[in-house]
Amino acid sequence: MNLPRLLLRYRALIIEGLTRALHGESSLHAILRYHVGLEDRQGEAIEGVGKLLRPSLVLFVVEELRGDVEKALPGALSIELTHNFSLIHDDIEDCDLVRRGRPTVWSLYGVKQGINAGDLMQTVAMSQALIAGRAEASALSEATAEMIEGQGLDLQFEEEEIGIARYLEMVDKKTGALIRCAFRLGALLAGASPILEETLMAIGQELGRAFQIRDDLLGIWGDGVQTGKPQGSDIRQKKKTLPIAVAFARAVGEECAILRQIYGKAELTDTDVGRVIVVLEKLGAKDVGEKMVADHLSHADDKLRNVPLSVRGKEEVNELIDYLARRER
Ligand code: IPE
Ligand code: IPE
Ligand code: MG
Ligand code: MG
Repeated sequence: MNLPRLLLRYRALIIEGLTRALHGESSLHAILRYHVGLEDRQGEAIEGVGKLLRPSLVLFVVEELRGDVEKALPGALSIELTHNFSLIHDDIEDCDLVRRGRPTVWSLYGVKQGINAGDLMQTVAMSQALIAGRAEASALSEATAEMIEGQGLDLQFEEEEIGIARYLEMVDKKTGALIRCAFRLGALLAGASPILEETLMAIGQELGRAFQIRDDLLGIWGDGVQTGKPQGSDIRQKKKTLPIAVAFARAVGEECAILRQIYGKAELTDTDVGRVIVVLEKLGAKDVGEKMVADHLSHADDKLRNVPLSVRGKEEVNELIDYLARRER
C-alpha cells in the first residue's frame, strides 16, 4: 500500500534534515544512521527510513495554520529522532531482532551499544528541539517522559492480567504521547491559540490509539514480510496488546482456563502462541480491534471539524485516515 500524500509531501525535506542532524563522524553516529534507515551497515546510502508519520504531522499542521514549514523543520526532526530513540531501546526491551525489515541495533552491536545509541539519539533530538524553541523543547521533554512511563507499563503488563481501560492508559502514554506532541509542536510552531492546541492534541490522542491498535493487529494477523517483524512475537513475549486485553475481558469457562494456564507460564512455546490465536479468533478479538481502529479514526475526524483546514488539507487528512485504517506495515 502506497504512502498517502500527507506522508509523501514533506518526506524529502525530513530525510535531508535527518541526514544533517545525524552527520557526526563517530561509530555511534553511524549506528544512528543505520537505525534510522539512511545507511546500511557499510555506510552506503539506502532508502530505509520509516513512514515519518510524526514529523509529517508537525509540518502539515504548521502549513495548514499558515506557519513557516522550513523554520519548523528542527521541531519536526526532534520528534522523529525521539521516536527513533524509543525504538532502539524498545527493541532491546522486547528482544526483537528485526525492525523495518533489517536487524535491530542491539542484535548487531550488543545491548550496551544499543543503550548508548538510544541515549545519543535522544540527545540529538533534544538539541533539535532547543533550536525550535524553549516551549517546543519543554513540550518534547514532557511527551518523552510520558512515552517512557508507557514503556514501563507495557513491560509491567507482561506479568499482569489487564482489561481494555488499562490497555488504553498504557497506549495513551507509550504511543499517544509522541503523536499528541506532534500536533502540539505543530500548534506551537504556527503560533496557534491554546484552544486550537488542545483540539489538535485531542486528535493526536485518537490517532495514537488507532495507530497502536492497528499495530497490535498487524503483530498477530499481518504479513511478517510487510511489517518487517516476525509474527506472534508479541504473544510469545506475553505483551498485553489489544486483542489479548479483549480476550481476557471476554473469556469465560474453557477459554479463560486456557489463557490463564498459558499466561501463567514463564516461557511460551510456538504451540502456546498458536493456541492463544485460536482463542482470540473464537472470542472475536480481531473484529473488536478493527472496530476500535475505525471508531478512534472517526472520533479524530469529528474533532478535525474544529480545525481550519484548506480544501487540499482536508482531502489529505481523509486519505491519511483511510491509510491508517488499512495500513499493512
Ligand atoms: C512503530 O511506529 C512503533 C509504534 C508506535 C507502533 P511507526 O510504525 O511509526 O514506525 P516507523 O518509524 O514508521 O518505522
Ligand atoms: C511501540 O512499541 C511504542 C514505543 C516504541 C514507544 P511496540 O513495542 O508496541 O511497537 P513495535 O511493534 O515494536 O514497533
Ligand atoms: Mg514495546
Ligand atoms: Mg516493540
